[in-house]
Amino acid sequence: MKVIHDAKELQQTALALRAQGKTIALVPTMGNLHAGHASLMDAARSRADVLIVSVFVNPTQFGPNEDYEKYPRTLDADCEVCRAHGVDILFSPAPATIYAPTFSTYVTESACSQGLCGRSRPTHFRGVCTIVNILFNLALPHVAVFGQKDAQQVAVLKRMVQDLHIPVEMAVAPIVRESDGLALSSRNQYLSPEERAVAPEIRAALREISEKIAAGTESAETLAEFFMNKLGANPLFEPEYIEIVDNATMLPLKKITRGNTLIAVAVRMTQSRTRLIDNIVA
Ligand code: PAJ
Repeated sequence: MKVIHDAKELQQTALALRAQGKTIALVPTMGNLHAGHASLMDAARSRADVLIVSVFVNPTQFGPNEDYEKYPRTLDADCEVCRAHGVDILFSPAPATIYAPTFSTYVTESACSQGLCGRSRPTHFRGVCTIVNILFNLALPHVAVFGQKDAQQVAVLKRMVQDLHIPVEMAVAPIVRESDGLALSSRNQYLSPEERAVAPEIRAALREISEKIAAGTESAETLAEFFMNKLGANPLFEPEYIEIVDNATMLPLKKITRGNTLIAVAVRMTQSRTRLIDNIVA
């Protein structure tokens, strides 16, 4: 496995690979890699000749009071995960290699990024679109793999690729969970032991919603109320939102339409202030 830190070197390498007729798959990450990230690598591995993983804690997608500084940076362990999953190139740039001091160009998707996480994180998706665009221009992938864990990110990036005619195939891999149902996340390590013990209730409430839908409940309002009451009853949870939206447009739905309804939630844990997200497709 080759480790590249320099942006130009990655681009030159990708150009040379393309000139040799090789196909390239990219898995963008912020590192602190876990089994969720590894599942994306496995999905990407079989889709192209060369697998590139980027590890970059992207400053432009964090708000001023978010966890950019304390976000876990564990490059040595990340290298091991990448090696074990057949990664050919690990791209780990310093922020200054990506963002020049004069940097002034951002990519803004302005429909899918408005609701859900976009409401409390108004510049988040602008940062995500900008960095993913930059990574596409450096790694020149034929296919890129993202996780359904961040369902709104998938919708926003798919829209960006469509709108800007970017020649990259977008692949999506399912959510990987702990055995108790908690979706894997680099932020789970911020949880206090009490918070960690109750956190699987977020997924449990989403499953109950699935069951209610299967039993015939169609009203988005009824389901949202159920979720808010259920988690709101425990002082360790501060539910931020439950949104029932069209899976492609992220626009709110009043009635569940089976097959393309995304039920997405964000919950703030009150002891550590950690914000957890999860979702299901009904
Ligand atoms: P990060 O949070 O590191 O996640 C990298 C990729 O792993 C994303 O596509 C995310 O959806 C996926 N992922 C995370 N947890 C997962 C899980 N439990 N199951 C399946 N996939 C999971 O998302 C980002 O980084 C950044 O916004 C990025 C796209 C890299 C841009 O900076």
